[in-house]
Amino acid sequence: MQKNNYVLISGATSGIGLELARLYAKDGYNLILISRSQNDLEKTKSELIKNNNIEIEIFAYDLSKIENAYDLYEKIKEKNFIVQTLVNNAGFGDSCEFVYADINRLNQMVDLNIKSLMNMCHLFAKDMMERRNGDILNVASVAAYLGGPYMATYYATKAFVLNFSIGLYHELKKYGVRMHVLCPGPTKTKFIDVAESQNKKAFNNISMKADKVAKICYKKVKRNKLIINTGFISKFTSFGTRFMSRKFAAKMTQKINGKI
Ligand SMILES: NC(=O)c1ccc[n+]([C@@H]2O[C@H](COP(=O)([O-])OP(=O)(O)OC[C@H]3O[C@@H](n4cnc5c(N)ncnc54)[C@H](OP(=O)(O)O)[C@@H]3O)[C@@H](O)[C@H]2O)c1
Repeated sequence: MQKNNYVLISGATSGIGLELARLYAKDGYNLILISRSQNDLEKTKSELIKNNNIEIEIFAYDLSKIENAYDLYEKIKEKNFIVQTLVNNAGFGDSCEFVYADINRLNQMVDLNIKSLMNMCHLFAKDMMERRNGDILNVASVAAYLGGPYMATYYATKAFVLNFSIGLYHELKKYGVRMHVLCPGPTKTKFIDVAESQNKKAFNNISMKADKVAKICYKKVKRNKLIINTGFISKFTSFGTRFMSRKFAAKMTQKINGKI
């Protein structure tokens, strides 16, 4: 990899983002890592730099504040870094009946999962187009295929990420920019704690390990796959929902979400 070329990963200090960072680091890619916690970023940096001969830059930003995406982009430009791969991974869910949910938290979720991701793509895709080279990996979810009672807003944010990415795939392809969208099923990370689920055990029982999800994803990005489904739940949902009504699929989801 050229000296000033980087893979930028948002949400790189935990879960799927951290596992992706480990894979890119192992293959010698320089990294720009983002999360809100400076402390966690420093820990992640020291782990990754110890084992790999790469450059790592860390930026503590709350990406649910859209202006921070622009600030980050400016900082990267000032330093003459080239973002060769953009991984929009930071995101969170909230497990609660919609009317009882904290509306500020839901707005923050829409800002992070949708608006920030869209703005990051807008900023970085243009540079990739001009260079006629680049990869963008957006992290959606199996939730993207479904209406999701008790996590309705989260599921809808991920439907945006999936459809937005598919749309961009066709726009960007002709400029040499490759788009990928990851749709993991339940994965053992901090996600379920952050979502304040009432039954973490049931969720963890059906969850995949984050390193396995990241490995499948990494391989498929390298093979230039657009939609990346990891594991049985993700594959079954993406295929099975083609043959049932959306209303019925949401009813089934309500039963599952009612338990988690
Ligand atoms: N785990 C699952 O079951 C699952 C399934 C499907 C899809 N996903 C998706 O996978 C992605 C990664 O989630 P995960 O499961 O790996 O969760 P996680 O373990 O909670 O990791 C989330 C990462 O994002 C960072 N982050 C959170 N809010 C942020 C913000 N406002 N600005 C910047 N960084 C922020 C976190 O660090 P800080 O808190 O320090 O900021 C952390 O590094 C998310 O988009 C999630 O929706 C997860």
